[in-house]
Amino acid sequence: MSQKKLVGFVGSFSRPSRSRTLVETAAAHAADRFGVDSSIYDITDLGQSFGNARSLKDLDQDARKIFDAIAEADVLVVGTPTYKGSYTGLFKHAIDLIDPITLAGKPVILTATGGGDRHALIVEHQLRPLFGFFQAHSLPSAIYASDRDFADGRLVNDIIRSRVAQTVAELAPFLPGHSSPVSIAAE
Ligand SMILES: Cc1cc2nc3c(=O)[nH]c(=O)nc-3n(C[C@H](O)[C@H](O)[C@H](O)COP(=O)(O)O)c2cc1C
Repeated sequence: MSQKKLVGFVGSFSRPSRSRTLVETAAAHAADRFGVDSSIYDITDLGQSFGNARSLKDLDQDARKIFDAIAEADVLVVGTPTYKGSYTGLFKHAIDLIDPITLAGKPVILTATGGGDRHALIVEHQLRPLFGFFQAHSLPSAIYASDRDFADGRLVNDIIRSRVAQTVAELAPFLPGHSSPVSIAAE
């Protein structure tokens, strides 16, 4: 059986980026648990052609490869910082270029970061409906972390780390040969 591919896409152009750290943490858990091969991209990776693109045809080859990777992924992990209560404009601009047919039925892990807890429901009220438009299988659990949950470029809050593990476990039905039961998290 060929190795399944996980692609992470991060709607931040900061480096370092907490949102990227969160996506990387989920990808590392998925690699440990399911042996998936992961690649992670962010807005900066999309380069100069991205800003003015109205369709995939307007992108240069490197940016196009990232969208091809998203379309071909077995699992997608998306992450965005919260900007003014929602995903970043550039995250939405990237998602606007995706052909809906390529995300239909794909398992998607929804993640976001923010300065505090006030906008923690961005994952439910902004990201989940967005991926609903694409008929993607957003996993039942989603992950939000605030700035204080990170230190030295790592996710250090054990409750959020357990949430990551719980969410990744929900991939099992989508990865043949991994039918481990999903436990119900207390929080
Ligand atoms: C323009 C801008 C708007 C922001 N708006 C919010 C907000 O509405 N709610 C919030 O919790 N954090 C807000 N933040 C804080 C970021 O979401 C937070 O620091 C995030 O972890 C940054 O992620 P990154 O390191 O991946 O870029 C904002 C930051 C910026 C730069």
